[in-house]
Amino acid sequence: MITWVFACALLGFLLLLLLLTRKMRAMGKKLGQVSRDLGQLQKDLRKGLKESDANQWEHYRESEIHAQLLNLLKFTEPIPPTRSWAASPDLLMTLVESVRVNKPELIIELGSGISTLMMAKSLPAGSKTKIISFDHSAEFAQITRDLLEQHSITGVEIRVAPLEQYDSQRTWYSKKAFADISNIDLLVVDGPPGSKDPQARSGARLELASKLSARATVIIDDADRDGEHAMAQAFAEVLPSHTLRFLPHEKGTAVISPS
Ligand SMILES: C[S@@+](CC[C@H](N)C(=O)[O-])C[C@H]1O[C@@H](n2cnc3c(N)ncnc32)[C@H](O)[C@@H]1O
Repeated sequence: MITWVFACALLGFLLLLLLLTRKMRAMGKKLGQVSRDLGQLQKDLRKGLKESDANQWEHYRESEIHAQLLNLLKFTEPIPPTRSWAASPDLLMTLVESVRVNKPELIIELGSGISTLMMAKSLPAGSKTKIISFDHSAEFAQITRDLLEQHSITGVEIRVAPLEQYDSQRTWYSKKAFADISNIDLLVVDGPPGSKDPQARSGARLELASKLSARATVIIDDADRDGEHAMAQAFAEVLPSHTLRFLPHEKGTAVISPS
């Protein structure tokens, strides 16, 4: 009888031990998972902090250039925000420097806005340089005209050129709007809107490469996007005496200039 009771107690104890071992194993697994999750969280946090540092640096850098632009161009009226739809200060500074250093006689811009104002303000008083900025939108063209008027700038043409279908793959500004254009010394490509269609700006090369002067510079915004990046490379290929540089700007800038 005693042996039987002892055997039962021993069995019960062994079962309990087995149960406890299983529970501890399950807890061990859970703890392992928690520790892995914590490790991943730490990695994500480090990555987030690094990105945040890079963003802060970018914001600071853009503010720094913006301050220099204001100082350089001596604005007496308020200016609209840069970045987002508008050009970022780093691109604007590149445009301003190009105008001041290369003294283009004809500037053609695709996509009007604050970039038009900054280039116009870069010209010395009495300059003979002609700026024609094309816009597919009559509404945004008028906003740019009003901006120029507010800054007492005359002589800049904002030309509305609605988008038209060129072939099954692409639309671009109306062809006839460019009929009188030749000898472009500075071509600025920041339109038509290209975020949804990588082909949207390919017309700049296809339609305007033959209208550039020998000393022309081409400046392309949004060169970090695949469409604009590929267009810049294709553009440089048809200009064998030019050199292509990609500048590490907020949205990426491609500059194709005489070698
Ligand atoms: C990238 S934007 C051109 C920006 C211009 N170069 C500047 O620096 O302000 C291209 C076109 O988008 C249109 N656009 C400008 N601002 C816009 C906005 N806030 N929303 C939608 N379209 C806009 C205009 O028609 C413009 O020609």
